[in-house]
Order: sequence, then structure tokens, then C-alpha cells
Amino acid sequence: MSAEMRMSPIPRPVKQENETGFFNCDGVPELSGDGSFAEELSVFSGQMSARYGAVSGNPPQIMCAKDGAIPAEGYRLRVGAGRIDLAASDSDGLYNGLQTLRQLFLSGDTGDVFVKTPRTHFVIPCMEIKDAPRFPWRGFMLDCSRHFYQAAFIKKLIDVLSMHHINRFHWHLADDQGWRLPVLEYPRLLEIGSKRRDPHRQEESYDEGSYTEDEIRDVVAFAAARHITVVPEIDLPGHTVSALAAYPELGCTGGPYHVEYRHGVFEDILCAGNDRIFDFVAAVFDSLARLFPGKYVHIGGDEAPTTRWETCPKCRQRMAELKLNEPRQLQRWLTRRFVQMLAERGKTAIGWDEVLEGVNDSECTALPDDLIVMFWRSWMDKKLIIDAAAAGRRLIMTPCNHGAYLNFRQFEDPDGPGAGYGAATLQNSYEIPLVYPEMTEEQAKLVLGGQGNLWAELINSARNAEYLIFPRICALAEAFWSPAAGDFADFKRWLLVHQRRIDSLGFVQYRENC
Ligand code: ACM
Ligand code: ZN
Repeated sequence: MSAEMRMSPIPRPVKQENETGFFNCDGVPELSGDGSFAEELSVFSGQMSARYGAVSGNPPQIMCAKDGAIPAEGYRLRVGAGRIDLAASDSDGLYNGLQTLRQLFLSGDTGDVFVKTPRTHFVIPCMEIKDAPRFPWRGFMLDCSRHFYQAAFIKKLIDVLSMHHINRFHWHLADDQGWRLPVLEYPRLLEIGSKRRDPHRQEESYDEGSYTEDEIRDVVAFAAARHITVVPEIDLPGHTVSALAAYPELGCTGGPYHVEYRHGVFEDILCAGNDRIFDFVAAVFDSLARLFPGKYVHIGGDEAPTTRWETCPKCRQRMAELKLNEPRQLQRWLTRRFVQMLAERGKTAIGWDEVLEGVNDSECTALPDDLIVMFWRSWMDKKLIIDAAAAGRRLIMTPCNHGAYLNFRQFEDPDGPGAGYGAATLQNSYEIPLVYPEMTEEQAKLVLGGQGNLWAELINSARNAEYLIFPRICALAEAFWSPAAGDFADFKRWLLVHQRRIDSLGFVQYRENC
């Protein structure tokens, strides 16, 4: 390694000061920490083949300690010639610091740069990093309905996301094209709802799959050890054709319905006039509450046409009873019920921005204050979201046309994987708008952060998913973590090195200049 060679993790830290000299570790590094950081250190030692807990007689080379003055989730990392010191005030911060260190180790020069672990020789230039996140919500969503992804792939992804300080994995578990969540009282959700057949194709079914409770618990525990909260989503009341195929009595017309093989927005949604949908939703929420210990549940709420509700006698009767003037208010009424049902189970609800629509002229359509809104329809007037912030609503930004939708092509190329109305370039992702200039300081504080989403209608394999995720998720991670107004050209220079780290972890990725 040349004396000038420098390293930087991605997301790039708030402050990094390079110093002269190198930490040169010939052999497996020895780790030591305050007992409260045992889990973080054992995950790291698994990732880096470092020795933790063994007594070799040598002084440990990586010393971890608590420092209450460091901000939440932040850390201070000092790489000296003879040893590395890492401090944090909480275990999230310690974990984030170890992941920064992991990146530095992954790019260390052994004469055989970027070899896969296990490694026995690490060289890192001396430096001091002081770091803490810009936003508390740094998310990634994977659509496992339109394409069923195996749990092993999800774990591989969670691991690399955590290396980028991403701390939320939003698991889209049900949609028109497939239901993936086991619900004890409703077994047909998996027996029927998890399989779809395209009548234009010869095969019996071209996509099917569901997760067992054990697989879900395993993914959740794996994510928790990596300081990622799993946020399950069951989209309600629209995008529910797979559930209606299994239980047709939950729809306005009674069916028959078939798990959708087509893409798009469908008019058959849960019947807002039928009380049985609340038994169904209660059973679904019970499953979620049992399997997902995290605080958040996403209830969807996007793209729910009111067409069926307009002519359904039960829905019309419900509107009359509630004195609602337009069908969209029925969605507000449902959203309110769902948020309350989740609150009874100790959960905070998140909905796509459509939940804000409709007139609020009655108590039964008022949205509870703690409902968080995830903004995706970036073609809409920003007023929708600024007004929501002005009313005190917490927001997560995932603007579809501004770099957050990773299923869009990486660049304008009809032959490339992915789809979308145009491309989402690496630069779009890097410059994702998270806070609007029109927002006051108070309103800006209600933006919890941002998220990248991968919708899977046109992604039929994990490798294609990887190609679309990387490296745009690296750009998003930096936008969510690092201070505002990053320099894209500078980011791109560091990304050249960083992509080799991702290679070394076995991912396929798009590269801008080849
Ligand atoms: C969405 O993309 N329909 C949330
Ligand atoms: Zn109805």
C-alpha cells in the first residue's frame, strides 16, 4: 500500500482525519470490549475472523469502550499504529463503528487486495473518525410478493445493509400476486394465496413460496444482531387479491378471485362494509405481533380504488351509517381502525401517503397522531406532504421518481434489468430529496429519514435484485446518514474502492463506467 493511500467507509463519516502511519495486524486481530457489547463483538468477529473472548496473552488490538458523550448511534474510531480504539454511548453506535471498521478491513492491502475472509493480514492507515447519523430512519424495502425471495438471500442482504448503517428492513410480505405470511386461523392464505399461475404459460405455477414462522424468527433475530429492525408490511385494504382468492367472502363481490399474475392496480379490495374483514385483519396483526418484536408495522394503504365500494350495498350502507360523503373517507375510517388495532398490540403503524387522502370531516375519519406516513408519490404536489408535516405528522421519504425506487433501471437502457418510467441514476439516489426547502425547521424534524424500495414485478431472481440494489443503496445510505449536501463526484471516487468491498461479499452489482 502506498503511503498516500487513504480509505474511507461509505456512508462517509461526519468527520474523518487521516494520520500518518498504518495499523498493521499480522494475524487474526484480537478484540476486547466492555461486557455490554458482547453481541456486537461476536457478530464482528464472525464477519472478520477476529478473535474475541480467547485469551492469547497478547494485548487486544481492538479495544471497545463506552463513552456517554457520543450521540445516539454514533461512534468514535481511532486507528493507531499499534491498536484501534472504538467508543460509543450505545450498542447501536458500537455496532455502526464496528461496521465502519469492517469496511476498512475489507479494503486492507495484503498484496492480495480484497480477498474474501478469512483473512490473516490487515493494513489500515491511521485515522480518527467521529460519526453519527443525520436521520434515525435509514431503510430498505424488498417486495417478496411479486417475486418470492428465499430467507437466505434476505439474510445476505441484511448483513450488507447493516454494513452501510441501514437500520430498517421493510419486508413487503403480501400483495395481489402472492401472500407470504403464515396466519394460524387463515391457512388458505398460504395454501391458495402463495401460488400464482399465469394462464398464458405452460407451467403449473411460475412463482410460489411462503416463509415458515421459524424462518421469519430466524431472519428477525439475524437482523436484530445487526441492529436492523424488521418492519413487516401487509398492504390493506388494496393490493389484497391474493387474500381474496383464498377468502372470497372478504371482497365486495364475493369473487371468484385468482391470485394475480398481471401487474398493476386492481379494483377488488377488502369490503369496507363487511365486519368479517376486522376478524381477518386482527388475526393478521396477531401473527405480526407474535413474529415481529419491532415497534413498527406497515399497513400499506396505497393504490386502493374505491370502484367496488361505490356500488357494493354493504359499503354504501356503511357510508350511510357513518355519515360519510365520499367513498375515499371509508379508507380513512379503515386506516383509523387498523392503526388503533395495532396500538392495542403495542405497535406503531406506517402507511403509504394515500392514507392522507379524503376529506376529514368527522371524528371517525381522523387519522391518529402516531400514524407515520411514507411518502412515495413524488409526482404529487409537495403540498400534500408539507401540510402533513405542518399538522405534526411524522414522515419517511421514499420518492418514487427521485432515486428511491431501485427497480427503476440504473440508466436509460431498454436492454437493462429493471423497469420504470425512466431511470433512477446513481446521482438521483445520491441526491434524493429528504427535506424540502419549503419546510420549517420544526417540520423538517418530523422527517425521520428515507428508504430505498425494490419492487419485484420484473425482477425474477436474487442476482437481478442485487444488480439493481448496488450501488444505488450505497448512495442512499450516504444520503440518509451523512450531513446534507454531499459532493457526488467525491462520493463516486470513493465508491470505486467501496464496490470492491461489496464484490468481496459475493454480490452482483452495476458499475457506472464499464
Ligand atoms: C407503491 O409504490 N405503490 C407504494
Ligand atoms: Zn363492499
